[in-house]
Amino acid sequence: MVPRKLKALYYALLQAPMAVSSRTYRVFRAPRTGTVKVHLGPGQRNYLPGWINVDANVVSARPDVWADLRDVLPFRDGTVDVFYSHHMIEHLPDAMIPFHLREMHRCLKPGGLIRIGGPNGDVAMKKFVEGDERWFSDFPDARRSVGGRLANFILCRGEHLTILTRSYLEELLADAGFADVRTCAPGVETGSPELIGADVLTKEPEPTPDAPHTLIVEARKLGAATVRARAVAEE
Ligand SMILES: C[S@@+](CC[C@H](N)C(=O)[O-])C[C@H]1O[C@@H](n2cnc3c(N)ncnc32)[C@H](O)[C@@H]1O
Repeated sequence: MVPRKLKALYYALLQAPMAVSSRTYRVFRAPRTGTVKVHLGPGQRNYLPGWINVDANVVSARPDVWADLRDVLPFRDGTVDVFYSHHMIEHLPDAMIPFHLREMHRCLKPGGLIRIGGPNGDVAMKKFVEGDERWFSDFPDARRSVGGRLANFILCRGEHLTILTRSYLEELLADAGFADVRTCAPGVETGSPELIGADVLTKEPEPTPDAPHTLIVEARKLGAATVRARAVAEE
């Protein structure tokens, strides 16, 4: 893994050119029509053909759009059908995640979908309490104690900047305006097969499906008519 200091230097030095790249894309190239599928933080191996892959790292990733995802997203309002984000969001500072989710909400079409996956804090803490050392891996560091293995999983040598749990994601998603939140089994389950196909699901290998290492959540941006109808029904 690249040392954190080097990564911080990379982001600091390239912040301005990345902002220019992102805004130039949004103004001149971002699609305004058609089905638009966006993959945030693909890395190198998980590049999705047919999707717009957005990443900050030009060395270890393969971006179609070079952008810092802590910034405004490089898409116009209401133009994106689906955002897919797998093991990316935990790399954003915890305090920035509400803004990042609001940005996705802004860019989505009414009825649009997000599918977010990251380290499963719920299962990790359960496995810690049960003392199940074998559930944890030796990545990035080999730790002997179950507490050390929990810290290794959650913090990933300081790479992860938040703890993802189902209830926390639900709260953040609701605050950003999303609805219909559902948890999905990694690699097999989606509530929207028209948008999340085998191309995406095969990128989510899960060694222990009964106690998944990745928490996958889907949610939708409601259309104005649905928001009104739900408000009336609640009165
Ligand atoms: C752990 S990798 C995940 C790669 C792939 N999605 C997967 O599931 O294996 C995290 C990816 O998110 C990208 N990333 C992290 N923080 C980012 C940021 N602030 N802006 C843009 N990309 C970022 C990294 O460059 C990297 O490609």
